[in-house]
Amino acid sequence: MTEHHDEAQAESARADEAQAGEVAGAEPHGGEVVAPTIHVDRYEGIWMRVIAVMLAIFLITVTISGFAVGFQVPGVYQRIDPTKLYEAGSPFAEPGLRELAPGKYEAYIRAQIWQFTPNEIRIPAGSTVTFYVTSQDVQHGIKIAETNINMMALPGQISRLTTRFDKPGTYNFVCHEYCGQLHHTMYGRIIVEEPGAEQAQVQ
Ligand code: CUA
Repeated sequence: MTEHHDEAQAESARADEAQAGEVAGAEPHGGEVVAPTIHVDRYEGIWMRVIAVMLAIFLITVTISGFAVGFQVPGVYQRIDPTKLYEAGSPFAEPGLRELAPGKYEAYIRAQIWQFTPNEIRIPAGSTVTFYVTSQDVQHGIKIAETNINMMALPGQISRLTTRFDKPGTYNFVCHEYCGQLHHTMYGRIIVEEPGAEQAQVQ
C-alpha cells in the first residue's frame, strides 16, 4: 500500500518536472517567446496523412456517384396502408406503366410473395421512368440490372427512384431481400425497344 503510494508520488513528481521543463523550453533564455511544438510520433503522422487521403477519396467518390452518376439513397417517399392496396383510388390496385408525356413514364410495381406485378415492362429507348414500389406482405427488394435502381420494397412504405433507359435491350430485375422459400423465383424484366420498333412491327 505504502509502496504504491510512494510510486505514485514519484510518478507525479516526475510529471511535474517534465512539465516544468516544457514550460522552460517554451521560453528560452533571452525572453524570446517560441511557440510550443507538438510532438507527433512518426507512425502516427503517417497514419494521419493516410486517413486524410482516404477521407478525401471517399468524399470525391460520394460526390461523383451522387451528382454525376445519379446514385441516390431511396428514402420513404410516402406511407401506404398495405391492407388497402387493392382499394379504389390506390395506385397499386392496378399497377403498371403509365405515360405522363412522350418519353416520360411512371411505373407502379407491387411486390408480394413471390412475384412482382407487373413482371414485364416495355418502353422505347430514351425513356425516363420513375418507379414506385411497395410490398403487400413481407419485406422485398428490387434491383434493376445496369441501372441505379436498387431499393427496398416494404409493406407500408412506397419507395421511389427515377432512371433513364438509353440503350435498347433487356434489363432484368430481381428481389434482393430474402423473403422466404421461393425468393429466388421473384424476378422480372424491362424491355427497352429501339425507337420506332412498334411502327416497324405493324408495317
Ligand atoms: Cu421477394 Cu425476395
